[in-house]
Amino acid sequence: MTRLAGKTALITGAARGIGLAFAQAYLHEGAKVVIADIAGAEQAAEGLGTNALGIRMDVTDQASIDVGIARAAEWGGGIDVLLNNAAIFDLAPIVDITRESYARVFDINVAGTLFPLQAVARVMIAQGRGGKIINMASQAGRRGEALVGVYCASKAAVISLTQSAGLDLIRHRINVNGIAPGVIDTPMWDQVDSLFARYEDKPLGQKKKEVGLAVPLGRMGRPEDITGMAVFLASADSDYIVAQTYNVDGGNWMS
Ligand SMILES: NC(=O)c1ccc[n+]([C@@H]2O[C@H](COP(=O)([O-])OP(=O)(O)OC[C@H]3O[C@@H](n4cnc5c(N)ncnc54)[C@H](O)[C@@H]3O)[C@@H](O)[C@H]2O)c1
Repeated sequence: MTRLAGKTALITGAARGIGLAFAQAYLHEGAKVVIADIAGAEQAAEGLGTNALGIRMDVTDQASIDVGIARAAEWGGGIDVLLNNAAIFDLAPIVDITRESYARVFDINVAGTLFPLQAVARVMIAQGRGGKIINMASQAGRRGEALVGVYCASKAAVISLTQSAGLDLIRHRINVNGIAPGVIDTPMWDQVDSLFARYEDKPLGQKKKEVGLAVPLGRMGRPEDITGMAVFLASADSDYIVAQTYNVDGGNWMS
């Protein structure tokens, strides 16, 4: 359990949900982990021991990104892994999408992936020891969904950015890859469920039940179902993998 020994990882949106499971898995593999989140980061890091540091970072704010990354690098003796995990969800029929929703989802999910990636890539290039950058996409980025136009488009953009950054940064021995989960039971899904309840006129909890039953494997994912891929992509085992996005979704999607 030391596949990440000696490495420092920065994970955005890691105060809860999938990001927190990533932090725990990386710590288990011997890494030092910076939990960066707009809310709850310090509290999340508290119970995780001295190899975890919680910092407040807003991925839509360049100053917050720069300060957070400088602090993470100072604390961790550099940065070896960036996991761009922070994101938000929204849902509306095409005719009801607002500019505010579009701007907020793209600011957090797309710019909030690109600019931390850019800032950490600069640190990694200066360090001269390569690195791993992992972007959280989604099955939503593989195709459109009637009510989920903006979020789907944002995750398609993450897959595209992963390809471009992967091709650009591999000459510095920085591997950029992505993960596309299916439906994972986290606080985000509670919000997704309540939005579907409103727009599809379903009782609360119904959509969650339906999507779980529709997974070929027979259930919704849990955050721990994704951690193996995140450890693999952060480890030396993925050195020859460039610009890919992997589906981890119980069989929902093939590409
Ligand atoms: N849960 C799913 O079914 C699912 C499916 C596919 C992809 N994903 C992706 O996995 C990732 C994690 O999802 P989750 O379900 O754990 O979500 P979540 O809502 O439970 O957690 C997201 C975290 O991001 C943080 N965050 C939000 N805005 C931020 C900002 N501006 N700056 C910094 N942090 C911010 C939140 O505070 C929260 O801690 C996301 O990228 C999501 O799109 C989730």
